[in-house]
Amino acid sequence: MTAELAPAVPARAGRRMTVLVTGGAGFVGSHVCVALLERGHEVVVVDNYTNSSPLALTRVEKLAGRPLVAAHGVDLRDRPALSAVFRRYPIDAVMHLAARKAVAESWEMPTEYLDNNIGGITGLLRAMSERGVPRLVFSSSCSIYGDVDAVPVAEDCAARPANPYAVSKWMCEQILVEACRSSAGLTVSALRYFNPIGAHESGLLGEAPRGVAGNVMPNLMRVAVGRADRVSVYGADYPTVDGTPVRDYIHVMDVAEAHCVALEHLDRTGGGVRVVNLGTGVGTSVLELIDAFGVACGRPIPYTIGSRRNGDVTALVADPRRAAREWNWRTTRDLAAMCRDAWRFQRLHPTGYGAGTVPAASAVPAAPAVPAASSVPAGPAEPR
Ligand SMILES: NC(=O)c1ccc[n+]([C@@H]2O[C@H](COP(=O)([O-])OP(=O)(O)OC[C@H]3O[C@@H](n4cnc5c(N)ncnc54)[C@H](O)[C@@H]3O)[C@@H](O)[C@H]2O)c1
Repeated sequence: MTAELAPAVPARAGRRMTVLVTGGAGFVGSHVCVALLERGHEVVVVDNYTNSSPLALTRVEKLAGRPLVAAHGVDLRDRPALSAVFRRYPIDAVMHLAARKAVAESWEMPTEYLDNNIGGITGLLRAMSERGVPRLVFSSSCSIYGDVDAVPVAEDCAARPANPYAVSKWMCEQILVEACRSSAGLTVSALRYFNPIGAHESGLLGEAPRGVAGNVMPNLMRVAVGRADRVSVYGADYPTVDGTPVRDYIHVMDVAEAHCVALEHLDRTGGGVRVVNLGTGVGTSVLELIDAFGVACGRPIPYTIGSRRNGDVTALVADPRRAAREWNWRTTRDLAAMCRDAWRFQRLHPTGYGAGTVPAASAVPAAPAVPAASSVPAGPAEPR
């Protein structure tokens, strides 16, 4: 996937671009699509819908008030199908979010994680190279840092990926470095997200994974709507403020808007990979998150304390100063907004998009009475 990149398309910074969003139907990707459309870009989505629903894209168009160019149900490893998508549209830039992302699941199926996440990026780079597409914004992860000695964590902190998912993300970053080294025209922004939560403030778009989520927020919400009766906190003996792991939660719309800022800065970077943390710089423990979500949904969330989980680290909090310095960008939404917006989406879509209603702006239905299941694996948050 190296070498063959054609001469770079002339810079179009500040102008509308046609952007291919991989994983555009997913949690973060759907919010990215809204942000791109609102800024006047044209958007093509590629997603195999293994962890999402195409219905999310209908919501994207409703929120943005205009359509996507197209959405293709294609797996990134299907090279002929992906090449056909690239041939069909005048793609200026790619935002690559498609990946498997659950840490716990990656222990159970490491080969599938490596195949999907690495096969996905190599297939993508090959297709970009064939068409001379020079700009890429990549969804990387704070999990690359692993068990750090101290927080906050700056981008130059040594990588210590501690699970198959994190390894796959670290390898993707290395592949991007090699691709840029051998292809002078390629410029990449690798965004190391900390922990995106929340939802679009309309309540129309949010996190609706297909399977059992390993991360904290979907499981907190399951308890809040009565689909489980308590969350399990994995470990309360960490050296933190209350013994539970500390993470840097960031509103998904802040993450989405950062993608647009990264895109606008790509042409100023002049080739190579630039890694940027996407976090707030504020640490929140699992118990603090449970409390904050309880405030947002109007009732305390019951939890039980269990033992530690394989691969969880004590604390991961971003040093967000590079984004501030290089992009003049910082997050604008706090933890209360993240919880409030996540809860609004959940109340409207207690079982995901399939059974959700499209509400009038003020009509938020009460949570349905669904028989309670047992405890759900809600904590601590995974450093995805
Ligand atoms: N959500 C987080 O906490 C978090 C944190 C750090 C990094 N990230 C990264 O951000 C990206 C988006 O995460 P998300 O939370 O929106 O996940 P998500 O699962 O909601 O979205 C990923 C999307 O990619 C699609 N997909 C997966 N493999 C594919 C393939 N081979 N071909 C085509 N489509 C494929 C899925 O169907 C899904 O729609 C991922 O790369 C993830 O690793 C997420």
